[in-house]
Amino acid sequence: MPIINDIPAFHAFLTTNPNSRILALCGAGLSAASGLPTFRGAGGLWRNHDATRLATPEAFRADPGLVWLFYAYRRHMALEAKPNPAHHALAALARQRRKFLCLTQNVDNLSQRAGHPPSQLRTLHGNLFTLKCFNRRCSHVEHNNTADPLVPSLAPASVTTPADATRPLPLVDADVPLVHIPASELPRCPQCASLLRPGVVWFGEQLDGALLGEIYEWLDEGPISVIFVVGTGAQVWPAAGYVQEAAARGARVCVVNTEVAEETLGPEDFGFVGDAAVLLPRLLEPVIGSTKDDGTFE
Ligand SMILES: *[C@@H]1O[C@H](CO)[C@@H](O)[C@H](O)[C@H]1NC(C)=O
Ligand SMILES: *[C@@H]1O[C@H](CO)[C@@H](O)[C@H](O)[C@H]1NC(C)=O
Ligand SMILES: [Zn+2]
Repeated sequence: MPIINDIPAFHAFLTTNPNSRILALCGAGLSAASGLPTFRGAGGLWRNHDATRLATPEAFRADPGLVWLFYAYRRHMALEAKPNPAHHALAALARQRRKFLCLTQNVDNLSQRAGHPPSQLRTLHGNLFTLKCFNRRCSHVEHNNTADPLVPSLAPASVTTPADATRPLPLVDADVPLVHIPASELPRCPQCASLLRPGVVWFGEQLDGALLGEIYEWLDEGPISVIFVVGTGAQVWPAAGYVQEAAARGARVCVVNTEVAEETLGPEDFGFVGDAAVLLPRLLEPVIGSTKDDGTFE
């Protein structure tokens, strides 16, 4: 049986391995406490569209305006959101432990904004604020574009529903028809005039080869004491692959998620059921100290 919800046991483990290498793999659940939707399960729909079907090159080819509205909305939400205590705890761990590497599937830039050292963070799925050319033969990339709205036609995506509203605003209200945005009103590449697309990895696309190479180099530098799996299932790809690689280098698995599939964990592994924003600061306290009022650490 894995070790479930036993914080003292985890603290004992952490303090007996003070100089060890630590890996983390983070998913959407890390940013859930910041108010960003995970687009899974019942919340997996955006305006009656299955979010996983919008995040493909085929969907972009078929209706780039619709896909851009979805991403413009996510950009807006991410800009409005703030890093939560889980982002801050991981960033503090990275500052304390130079041998800690964090892989994130999140594209919201919240780990970066929490001050996570860039050398210890790998964004597997890109960044909402990177724009790149949809033309594969063109190499144009623009980083760090926070324009909101990105172009005037995407303004409807930049309106947030007020907390006291009785109905969501049109963009998130599935009863209000979406406006069709013609390709002529979408952002264009300054080099070749093709459409620009969000700099994220879509379903059916390969992860960046150079990035994967860097991760494998890190993995091969030596044994790993623990792999945290935060806000995502340990048995889904790509987490499953990294869990295997880390386990092959001696790591125990520590899952922190709203659901923990105990049967997938080994007898030495840890599982913590709940919100990462509550659990991670407590789990890491022996290394990062206790939380200050502003959500950062001593
Ligand atoms: C992402 O976070 C970094 C670190 O705070 C910041 O320099 C950068 O401007 C952010 N980018 C966006 C697009 O928010
Ligand atoms: C992103 O832009 C912000 C604001 O314009 C700037 O402060 C920051 O240094 C930039 N970050 C990167 C990584 O270029
Ligand atoms: Zn181009």
